[in-house]
Amino acid sequence: MKKWKIILLLAGVAVVALQITNPARTNPPVLHDLAATNPPPAEITALLRAACYDCHSHETKWPWYARIAPSSWLVVSDVNEGREHFNFSEWPTDPELVVKRLDRINEVLDYKEMPPKKYTLLHPEARLTEAQRKFIMDWADAAGKKTEATAPPK
Ligand code: HEC
Repeated sequence: MKKWKIILLLAGVAVVALQITNPARTNPPVLHDLAATNPPPAEITALLRAACYDCHSHETKWPWYARIAPSSWLVVSDVNEGREHFNFSEWPTDPELVVKRLDRINEVLDYKEMPPKKYTLLHPEARLTEAQRKFIMDWADAAGKKTEATAPPK
């Protein structure tokens, strides 16, 4: 066998062996979606679902490269970390927490931290225009004020 063929074969074996390291891709049940407490207008729901839900909900649409190591490690860890920090499928009912979450949405959009660049590179449908950002921020702001105004007194 030619040397390059052996190298190719070994590389192939290594890639196959790597596949046993694929981490689990979970989609646990949706406990309490944002829509249950703070239903946004349909256009906002569509934007959040396109730009955020893959990493911040239990409704992740796993891409094909989440099935193949080593890219699977990166995708799964991003989703797990995203869910841990902020989860639209575990939206709070306590008005104080709701207001905090809505504030955080405003912050990350204002600083253009979310959705992450590495994500929008591969998901053009998740890119937000200036107008869309502002649209979501205005909604989050209004929803926060409304929640504060209607919260029962402590
Ligand atoms: C590619 C996955 C991914 C996408 C898509 C994504 N995020 Fe994130 N997000 C993360 C990760 C990972 C973190 C935690 C680490 C960090 O802060 O960078 C995070 C952190 C956050 C936080 C901070 C939570 C906190 O208070 O600690 C908020 C708020 C947030 N994201 C909102 C959003 C919104 C809103 C969108 C859509 C416009 C979005 N994210 C899209 C992965 C993602």
